[in-house]
Amino acid sequence: MNPIAVGIHDLSLAATHYFLDLAVLAERSGVDVDKYYLGLGQELMSVPAADEDIVTMAAAAAQPILERHGTEGLRTVLFATESGVDQSKAAGLFLHPLLGLPHDCRVVELKQACYGGTAALQFAAALVARDPQQRVLVIASDIAKYQPDSPGEPTQGAAAVAMLVTADPAILALDAVSGIYSEDIMDFWRPNHRTTALVDGKLSIEAYLRASLGAWEDYRRRGGLALTEFAAFCYHQPFTKMAYKAHRNLLQANGFNPSSADLDAALLATTTYNRLLGNSYTASVYVALAALLDSTTDLTARPIAFLSYGSGNVAEFFSGRVVSGYRDQLRTVANAEMLAHRKPITFDRYRELPDALRAAVGNLVSPRESEGAFRIAAIRDDKRIYEVVLH
Ligand code: CAA
Repeated sequence: MNPIAVGIHDLSLAATHYFLDLAVLAERSGVDVDKYYLGLGQELMSVPAADEDIVTMAAAAAQPILERHGTEGLRTVLFATESGVDQSKAAGLFLHPLLGLPHDCRVVELKQACYGGTAALQFAAALVARDPQQRVLVIASDIAKYQPDSPGEPTQGAAAVAMLVTADPAILALDAVSGIYSEDIMDFWRPNHRTTALVDGKLSIEAYLRASLGAWEDYRRRGGLALTEFAAFCYHQPFTKMAYKAHRNLLQANGFNPSSADLDAALLATTTYNRLLGNSYTASVYVALAALLDSTTDLTARPIAFLSYGSGNVAEFFSGRVVSGYRDQLRTVANAEMLAHRKPITFDRYRELPDALRAAVGNLVSPRESEGAFRIAAIRDDKRIYEVVLH
């Protein structure tokens, strides 16, 4: 008997109200803009308004999925983030009143740096394989923040991805085989008392490369496809050039000598959204998938490779096959509008925006700044108060 196909049935993205052009950051920092545009492969970064956070982005990403598919059979919501808003309560519980989630549905938050979204996807697939009637909502939502004036500042960003994981999926059927690599390494971390991440930049790049090779070798040992079989490679993209570094490294380790054109053929279509959003941590590899699927190439029945990396670290190499008719399910127009409708933020406003939404401040009222359907209105007695904005 063939195992039942399980995978991504729907995929939706959301970003923030603002973006900052890295040309502005370069000018203020006295850096040649090509270091960012070409050297890092980043052009813009998403910046949340004062009344946005990972919950408002998650709600905006998940709402279109629930509108299209309803909540029947939805038994689990897995919310992956490394910019959590509470040390105890799962961020997904705030979605109940915002989205009308059912009460007979478990809600859990997952954390392992940028890898958390992939852990959620794999756990979701296992739940659906056990009971194909069930559907799982996977959400990956993050705001990447580093110390101002640090080398990490141009690699900030924000976005959320929501995915409905089901049996007989309409977009991508996941392969059962996957390869994993994990080790204890201090390449990037955020202690509980900090709102910005700490990072050893060069070590983090080396760690990413080593972990990707380790995950790839495990994938192959377990019977995964050969490198030449994939139509494209979706990497975690802290900055889009990282995908190029990792893919070149993977190909060279396997005896290939790729040209720039070879690398572009495997990667370019996966980078177009991340280049404009910046690092979205847990969401980034699935933002890469959305950009690839929205591109003009017909990927029907083609295998796609994924490399998910979370500092600290865990990497997973896995694969999936694009389902016939997938284009009918895509949100290509909505994704283009989401990117186009963000507003430019001035450098001064970007630098003065409060980080209060991530720090426990007791009480705070957020004036209306964003224009989306969901906002955080206040923190009262350390309780977060979200609201739906009627348009
Ligand atoms: N024109 C064109 N290219 C230029 C240039 C110019 N004028 N000036 C510099 N460059 C190039 C450099 O040659 C370099 O390219 P290569 O890496 O191909 O050599 C690139 O621009 C970046 O320059 P530097 O290495 O000098 O940059 P940096 O040291 O200031 O910072 C960074 C780079 C370490 C990535 C830093 O941005 C950082 O710490 N970012 C956060 C950590 C991170 O993203 N790590 C990635 C792996 S960890 C991970 O993936 C998890 C996660 O999400 C954080």
